[in-house]
Amino acid sequence: IVVDKGNHRHFMAKEIAEQPEVVGHTLACFIDMAAGRIRLPDGADVDFSKLDRLAISACGTAYYAGLVARYWFEKFARLPVDIDIASEFRYREPPLSSGGLALVISQSGETADTLATLRHCRAQGMRIGAVVNVPTSTIAREADVVFPTVAGVEVGVASTKAFTCQLSVLAALAVKAGRDRGVLSEDDEAKLVSALVELPRLMAEALRLEPEIERLATTFAKAQDVLYLGRGTSFPIALEGALKLKEISYIHAEGYAAGELKHGPIALVDENVPVVVLAPYDPLFEKTASNMQEVAARGGKIVLVTDGEGPEHAGSAFAVLTLPKAYAFVSPMLYAIPVQLLAYHTAVFMGTDVDQPRNLAKSVTVE
Ligand code: G6P
Repeated sequence: IVVDKGNHRHFMAKEIAEQPEVVGHTLACFIDMAAGRIRLPDGADVDFSKLDRLAISACGTAYYAGLVARYWFEKFARLPVDIDIASEFRYREPPLSSGGLALVISQSGETADTLATLRHCRAQGMRIGAVVNVPTSTIAREADVVFPTVAGVEVGVASTKAFTCQLSVLAALAVKAGRDRGVLSEDDEAKLVSALVELPRLMAEALRLEPEIERLATTFAKAQDVLYLGRGTSFPIALEGALKLKEISYIHAEGYAAGELKHGPIALVDENVPVVVLAPYDPLFEKTASNMQEVAARGGKIVLVTDGEGPEHAGSAFAVLTLPKAYAFVSPMLYAIPVQLLAYHTAVFMGTDVDQPRNLAKSVTVE
């Protein structure tokens, strides 16, 4: 297959822009539109009702998708999740339940540590499910069950569209698990599925923030350190936002759970430090908003990313990015977009090699 950049300056820009479409394609494999229910692809059926826990493992951005999934599996399916970075998981010797399910997540399907974890779990008698983008990859071939992401070829080293597709698959699996385990009613399932069906349209709306974000990039390009804060499922998105920025702009960035602000990162805050606050207008909003005030009181430059009534509580924020109102369930896929765009435009402004950042590889096939 030949992939080109189309009208875009970089593959990363193209891949960010493609997200509504590829998330739509991916979800179509997991949703029975007519019935408003989750339907797993042929040959990928898993019964979550008998599991006592779920082990998830991955590297890099795929690991952050797993972190989000933990919130979903625990909330919607009351299924305890054990999650770790693949390079830690394989040597940590966690007690694993024979006959249990391990989920690995990988865009390339070739990441050495993720593959080693798969083999380790298999040797312990676990069944392996893989959320994977390359259907011919080693991980796809070795897994018992493949849950495909249909992101298409991803060229940019910094993962974007594969991430939101991974989240979409994991979201569908969590809803399926909730039904299997009798936690979600048919009605609950229908509501969550309709949120997923709406998602591509909302992602397209989120992309319209691009000109505003491009203007912010000039400020970020001058920063030495950037903080990203979030709570709940926005916490892994804060980690992902920081990872994207450091990968392609080489600016030091850290993602933190907003509640941890006082336990360290607040010491870094002054007027030179942009702080990206990811705060959907959900039941956790007020808590995150109070952390935002703590940052504001120390002169930090706040960029609030929010939705609904969130902008009314922006206080002295330097900038507010308003996303379309959505179910809290799907906010991780929406909030991923502004953090990707912010990293992208900051890097473009700084003139780095966006698609091939220094020292990084698309797929890490050695330990
Ligand atoms: C590398 C890439 C990241 C990716 C990670 C895991 O570090 O640069 O973008 O998230 O590997 O790769 P995988 O192919 O397993 O998702």
